[in-house]
Amino acid sequence: MSRIFVTGGSGRLGRSVVAGLTDAGHKVISVDRDAVPEEQLPPGAEQYTADLLAPGEAERLIRETAPDAVIHLAAIAVPFSAPEDVIFSTNTRLAYAVVSAATDAGVPKIVTASSPTALGYGSPAGWLPPSFPLDERTPPKPWNAYALSKLIAEQTVQMFAAAQGEKIRYAAFRPCYVISPEEWEGALTQQGHTVRERLLDPALSAPAQFNYVDARDVAEFLDVLLDKMDSIPNGEVFFVGAKDALATAPLAELFPRFLPGSGPLTEHLTGTSPAFSIDKARELLGWEPKRTWRTELTPPFEGEDTAATEQAALNDENHAGLVPAGATKETP
Ligand SMILES: NC(=O)c1ccc[n+]([C@@H]2O[C@H](COP(=O)([O-])OP(=O)(O)OC[C@H]3O[C@@H](n4cnc5c(N)ncnc54)[C@H](O)[C@@H]3O)[C@@H](O)[C@H]2O)c1
Repeated sequence: MSRIFVTGGSGRLGRSVVAGLTDAGHKVISVDRDAVPEEQLPPGAEQYTADLLAPGEAERLIRETAPDAVIHLAAIAVPFSAPEDVIFSTNTRLAYAVVSAATDAGVPKIVTASSPTALGYGSPAGWLPPSFPLDERTPPKPWNAYALSKLIAEQTVQMFAAAQGEKIRYAAFRPCYVISPEEWEGALTQQGHTVRERLLDPALSAPAQFNYVDARDVAEFLDVLLDKMDSIPNGEVFFVGAKDALATAPLAELFPRFLPGSGPLTEHLTGTSPAFSIDKARELLGWEPKRTWRTELTPPFEGEDTAATEQAALNDENHAGLVPAGATKETP
């Protein structure tokens, strides 16, 4: 059992991370500006409310609670949900404040949340990667302050890793579009629609390249990552996604409609293949996601007719076909 300090523990992803790590037998210290109701806090977790950007707060809390590991999730998590300079400054300063405080306190394992948006998909100026599936070698080309702030969060842990050598272990992870347990049952996802609507209308999932991940799988990824961090190279970045795509049709069929010029690059994405590879996490950590929309959606998706919705999406000027695919406020 470890003592794990989780920032942003009251958030959409944070609540599942706190629950998953306590279930795995860890003691979790959740720190967030907002508290969750005490009755919703899992046994084995304690929470502190704090603004981690307030001078000295991150360092004070980390020193007082003496954790074995820090997982930094706190951020403005939705692109364009605040002015660009505010997102840039908040997310980069939060990452630096938490990672530097944890380093100064000698916390042996430090992990920060990044985002697949660092790759740059959805740029209004167009975007095409060199190849699919997308993986950790795909060159990042962030085009907005959120994506850039996440790339800088990765570079922040890599900077500290470069300075510390092997004394402290660091890593960053890029969770795909996070779906929390209640969202499988119909609660609105981060983008304000349900998972079922996202499946029925591929124009909703196309901006995120049809990626997604169950929040509980992310918690399990983090548990495995913390366990293995001593034995993998320092400062690594991992994609964390589901093993399939959030789509009812093969991506080989969908990509040419939503990402101009992608046809030859995506024709091998047949069956349920996703656009993002999680092979690095599989190979370095032995992690495998357990949940897919096919097992978790409640009630299950029963081959509902997507044709009418797809046609409506194509006719809608806000959707793919008339605007560059992905030029939205999509997080992952
Ligand atoms: N949700 C996704 O699909 C997704 C995808 C990729 C990456 N991410 C990343 O994962 C992390 C968590 O995302 P989320 O969806 O849970 O976001 P969220 O907005 O639900 O949670 C973020 C939490 O951070 C807290 N916070 C923000 N500023 C703070 C501060 N100054 N001090 C203390 N707490 C503060 C907020 O109160 C909130 O509870 C973020 O770093 C986000 O960029 C999320």
